Amino acid sequence: MARYRADVSHLAPVWFSVTDLEVVSGHGSWVITTDGTEYLDFTCGIAVTSTGHCHPKVVAAIQQQAERFIHAQVNVYRHNLLEPLGAKLASITPPGIDTFFFANSGAEATEAAVKLAKQATKRPHIVVFSGSFHGRTHLTMAMTTSKTGYRSGYAPLPSGVFVAPFPDPLRRGADLDDCIEDFRRLFRTQTAPDETAAVVIEPVLGEGGYTPAPAKLLDAIAEICAQHGMLFIADEVQTGFGRTGKMFAIEHTSLVPDIIVMAKGIASGFPISAIGASAELMAQWPTGSHGGTYGGNPIGCAAALATIDVLTEPGFLDGVVERGAQLMDGLRALQAKHPRILDVRGLGLMVGTQLDDAALVAAVQEHCRRESRLLLMNAGTDSTTLRWMPPLTVSADEIDLGLTAFGNALDAVAK
Ligand SMILES: Cc1ncc(COP(=O)(O)O)c(C=O)c1O
Repeated sequence: MARYRADVSHLAPVWFSVTDLEVVSGHGSWVITTDGTEYLDFTCGIAVTSTGHCHPKVVAAIQQQAERFIHAQVNVYRHNLLEPLGAKLASITPPGIDTFFFANSGAEATEAAVKLAKQATKRPHIVVFSGSFHGRTHLTMAMTTSKTGYRSGYAPLPSGVFVAPFPDPLRRGADLDDCIEDFRRLFRTQTAPDETAAVVIEPVLGEGGYTPAPAKLLDAIAEICAQHGMLFIADEVQTGFGRTGKMFAIEHTSLVPDIIVMAKGIASGFPISAIGASAELMAQWPTGSHGGTYGGNPIGCAAALATIDVLTEPGFLDGVVERGAQLMDGLRALQAKHPRILDVRGLGLMVGTQLDDAALVAAVQEHCRRESRLLLMNAGTDSTTLRWMPPLTVSADEIDLGLTAFGNALDAVAK
């Protein structure tokens, strides 16, 4: 099948490539290459294009805003979409979270959350979980343990980051109590509570393998944080904005984090990120001690407001739950036929299928792309998990196309 190969002669080779396609446009769940071939894009810009590629309402909001203001620097003046976006976010985040700071990427927002936690608690350390991914800046690299490849060659990384174990999904809960006990022990052996500012967790491990954090682990984190005045930070960069069938994944529990970190799906692909906390907590962040040239960009705010309007349309999240169930059922049916699928897991449209070998994952991805024009990515420390992250607007027919492509690939390559 013909497909267009991108010319990369002037591009830094540091970017890894999932495909060598050059795309010129996208609509909904599809992207189109320079030679006009359409691909079903279940990579979704790495779980970013929540409303699909170029949703008409998001496009219109960006176009209209671009004619008014491209950049309105937040320290110089406050433009007229900042407060409406803050108010809108307050209406969709868990109760008590009502005040927001804007940045441009997930890593920057994660850094901001840790900086706020350090200022508010006057404590230096943080705790993260094994398999986590929080970004590629120096601090967020130190917080990232999903793969050594994200960290190696960059030492020394910032100190003061302690890593607690995250349960292995293939052990089906058998190691959960040990993980929780090790997490508790960390505060007796490595970082005392009164020197620990925050515990940071992804409610569903993203890069680390699309693994939901067990409710019991999240409960233990919330309990220990409350007991010792440490802040509970939910990194919802990948899980937020409807991805798991709730607006935020933490809503699958009754817990409310102290700080919630948001990016990716917030604006359908326009680079804007945010952290949210209570007004009381935000008030402890000294004015001028953090900021950034582009944070709160007006086009980003317009794209976020339009995206949230789409995500909050009546029944929208029910659709995510239905499509997620359809996907999960279809994958489980394939698992019954193919013993090399070790696990099917996830929440909403954040679903992982763990296979028994990374080479098989790569062969399945390649078959899906070559024979069915379906784009998929992998995840997990050993790259053994295929991750399903279609846009939240994906149709039932498109999910079926994806399942058929995956089934055909398994039939062809999973001997
Ligand atoms: C949970 C989580 N946190 C943080 C990040 C970093 O986001 P960015 O790549 O926008 O810096 C990612 C990116 O994949 C992520 O999945």
